Amino acid sequence: MFSLIAAVGKNHELGQKGQLVFHLQNDINFFRQTTNGHKVVMGRKTWESLPSKLKNRENIVISRQNFSGPDQIIHNVDDFIKKNQATNEEIFIIGGEAIYSIFLPYAKNLYLTEIDASAPADTFFPNFDKTKYQKTLITKGSENELNYSIAKYTKD
Ligand SMILES: NC(=O)c1ccc[n+]([C@@H]2O[C@H](COP(=O)([O-])OP(=O)(O)OC[C@H]3O[C@@H](n4cnc5c(N)ncnc54)[C@H](OP(=O)(O)O)[C@@H]3O)[C@@H](O)[C@H]2O)c1
Repeated sequence: MFSLIAAVGKNHELGQKGQLVFHLQNDINFFRQTTNGHKVVMGRKTWESLPSKLKNRENIVISRQNFSGPDQIIHNVDDFIKKNQATNEEIFIIGGEAIYSIFLPYAKNLYLTEIDASAPADTFFPNFDKTKYQKTLITKGSENELNYSIAKYTKD
């Protein structure tokens, strides 16, 4: 089973020049807690944006290239989806735009930190039909004068 997890602005902003648009400690804590102990799947560009491998998680990177560092590199995304979609194991798709777009149709859950602000961005979370998901509010708050809520969207 695939779950997407992302922090997005009002216009679904994700990243700018290879980095995150918004930096909220509460979002980072939520991400760490939620993905802890799980497989995390990311695109090569998101991998390169990380200061280091994400601890206590199997780091799986999607790329057409080979390089060292990740626990696993996936070249064939279709095969990976076929093999893992029907499992009970929750596999977290952690970005960026290219990888969210590929996995969105197959994802059961979307964990979104929705930040009530906009900012310049060059990568965006894909649009999705909210009427097809059940929304559960996990928490909401404010940090650095930014209001945010964290919600889980689930599809049958
Ligand atoms: N706000 C958030 O929650 C969040 C989360 C994650 C990332 N981000 C941001 O998103 C931005 C990066 O997103 P992005 O869309 O530019 O890059 P990305 O999705 O992280 O990575 C794109 C790379 O993935 C590989 N790839 C994509 N489709 C593939 C396929 N079908 N088969 C094999 N490999 C494939 C390619 O790697 P190769 O070129 O090596 O072949 C491609 O260049 C950054 O700014 C990052 O900070 C934000």
